[in-house]
Amino acid sequence: MVKVIRVDPLNPDEKSIEEAVAIMRSGGLVAFPTETVYGLGADATNDEAVRKIFDVKGRPTDNPLIVHVSDMEMLGSIASLDDLALKLAGKFWPGPMTMVLGRKDLPDLVSAGMPTVAVRMPAHPVALMLIQKLRRPVAAPSANIAGRPSPTRAEHVLEDFGDKIELVIDGGEVTFGLESTVISLVSRPPVLLRPGVITAEQIMEITGRLDIPDIAKGLSEFEGKVLSPGTKYRHYAPRAKMYVVEGDVQKVAEYIAKAAKRDIEIGMKVGILTTDENKGWYPPEAHVVVCGSRSNPYSIALNLFNSLREMDKEKVDVIYSEGFPDNGLFLAISNRLRKASGHNVIRV
Ligand code: TXA
Ligand code: MG
Repeated sequence: MVKVIRVDPLNPDEKSIEEAVAIMRSGGLVAFPTETVYGLGADATNDEAVRKIFDVKGRPTDNPLIVHVSDMEMLGSIASLDDLALKLAGKFWPGPMTMVLGRKDLPDLVSAGMPTVAVRMPAHPVALMLIQKLRRPVAAPSANIAGRPSPTRAEHVLEDFGDKIELVIDGGEVTFGLESTVISLVSRPPVLLRPGVITAEQIMEITGRLDIPDIAKGLSEFEGKVLSPGTKYRHYAPRAKMYVVEGDVQKVAEYIAKAAKRDIEIGMKVGILTTDENKGWYPPEAHVVVCGSRSNPYSIALNLFNSLREMDKEKVDVIYSEGFPDNGLFLAISNRLRKASGHNVIRV
């Protein structure tokens, strides 16, 4: 049976965290909240525990995990640091930024056999206390079945895993709702592998230059050679066929309204992902989900994955989502939507 412990996210009860630590010390898996999404954590130094993560998630073993640390000394034991890595850590940690660096002493499987390791120091008090008390780095991918939308609430973790894991620490809804920004520092200039809440523009203020390949925009899965193995698999996918309609905001709404009416006429159940600004455009027969407001992209980010899960629960046949620009936090939102749709992007 999976056990769920509810904690105060800002001031977690030490006893509860110690219970989680005991499970992880004996090689078990614990789902816990971070400021981005819930993670499925294991002791990163325990090969068998790390293997369990791949098994339970159904994650291909060529897709490496992010290793979470609570201090710079722990970081130094698992990754090679240079000046730029230290500068970025100084600016953005603890927080939603992940750096790919040279790997030191960790099981091969964590990094899918690559000579590199992705590292992050999370800001969430529960995540930090867990790593501090374990006194070991924690390997933790997002706590969802491979290919499903990432979990922003403990209920999502339970939906996906049920009794397949031992413990879920329920700290309520996460802060941001999108996974961390991933940048590779293995080559220069650094490369944005996955956009997130820390924007490309913010990273560039520190690094000067930053390559933004098509994979980071969610426009393609391959970049000639594989830069980040995770990007080649289908992600965040709802069960229904999904389209992202991009372009001028009003034209987008007109296009979706027309397509929805046509599909409803032939008996389909239509889901529409929209924003406060546009919700009035759509037929009442559609299942219209308002993610947030275009004037506050954080609101859209926080509700995005839950909205995709809601579409599954409503059993819609087709989903139309409004698209967003490619700058600031919107780039991370665009990336997730394009990937969720399997790159079914319509430009109007
Ligand atoms: O916000 C987050 O990053 C969350 C929370 C739990 O911290 N974690 C998360 O992990 O999103 P995951 O495993 O779902 O995504 C990790 C991404 C994948 O796209 C993976 O391919 C990439 O990071 N990655 C991990 N190690 C890498 C490496 N050594 N080189 C390149 N990409 C790597
Ligand atoms: Mg993931």
